[in-house]
Amino acid sequence: MDKNRVVIFDTTLRDGEQSPGATMTHEEKLEIAEMLDEMGVDIIEAGFPIASEGDFRAVSEIAQRSKNSRICGLARANLTDIDRCAEAIKHAELNRIHTFIGTSPLHRAIPNLTMDEMADKIHETVTHARNLTDNVQWSPMDATRTEWDYLCRVIEIAIKAGATTINIPDTVGYTAPVESADLIKRLIETVPGADEVIFATHCHNDLGMATANALAAVAGGARQIECTINGLGERAGNTALEEVVMAMKTRNDIMPYTTGIDTTKIMAISRRVSTVSGFVVQPNKAIVGKNAFAHESGIHQDGMLKNPENFEIMRPEDVGLSGTSLPLGKHSGRAALRDKLEQLGFEVGDNQLKDIFVRFKDLADRKKEVFDDDIITLMRTDDAND
Ligand code: KIV
Ligand code: ZN
Repeated sequence: MDKNRVVIFDTTLRDGEQSPGATMTHEEKLEIAEMLDEMGVDIIEAGFPIASEGDFRAVSEIAQRSKNSRICGLARANLTDIDRCAEAIKHAELNRIHTFIGTSPLHRAIPNLTMDEMADKIHETVTHARNLTDNVQWSPMDATRTEWDYLCRVIEIAIKAGATTINIPDTVGYTAPVESADLIKRLIETVPGADEVIFATHCHNDLGMATANALAAVAGGARQIECTINGLGERAGNTALEEVVMAMKTRNDIMPYTTGIDTTKIMAISRRVSTVSGFVVQPNKAIVGKNAFAHESGIHQDGMLKNPENFEIMRPEDVGLSGTSLPLGKHSGRAALRDKLEQLGFEVGDNQLKDIFVRFKDLADRKKEVFDDDIITLMRTDDAND
């Protein structure tokens, strides 16, 4: 594969669905999986098959229906979980078992295992998974708070046992971009066998750095980004797919990486995930927020009408929008009002525009947004007064 190709691993249906209150129905999961498949996501983490009968059924049906994407299921580090996962993904043309265990001091205390006991468990479980499929991902959960020597040791064990992807989770969103890049780079330089596997980055957004950390990890050598639509996920969420993909596309000069994503499908899936999860997208959210391609102030609207590049670094069409929006409000200027009037079929001279503009401002002071119908009413009352 091209050395600058970044694999997009979407976990909306697993980590995203773990977000309190984001549960989706079986049909909704199938629909989202189909949209992910069609937009060019390389790997879909479709669920956690041991978690419930419903999760098993969803992973299994998504595995049977997938046309292009590799279908992955999550399993803890025990043979029962891994067997159940293998059963769920077995019908996918391309499949993957993703198995994990918490390796930091805090997480090692949960199952109460010594370092040696955990190392043995990793060897046993990754070997078992590899006997069931030739594509195994292993994650040391809470990797960014795991001791350096121990992290290197367990990754080496997982690679020797047959893992094909090593994922480095920043489970609690603790790391910072410089550390994220450095950690991946040093692991690739240090761990024997690292050049035979793909390193992945899985970032949480507790400090609002998930996107920056994922991109920094790619700069450090990671070639798989784990992410979700709209950044859905545990607590403050995961890296947002739309953000990393559009960042690499827009700033390809300094991030010369490619993905297989058809970015024109971003808006449609963002809206659908928001509807089925019940998680409203904040208006000023990067890429997919309602205001991401909207300009209200007079200076910006005038600049946009002269040349969109004045205030937009991406084309709205590239994320699936029909165009920029210039909502009319109290900050809007004459240029945008004239533009709107023309769109609505009204030809006005300079004097008439001056008069309508005064009445428009008066209305805008009383209303948050002035809609097309308001403008039409203004024009009708203008006609009646003539
Ligand atoms: O955040 C995390 O550590 C996870 C693992 C299961 C990879 O989601
Ligand atoms: Zn996670």
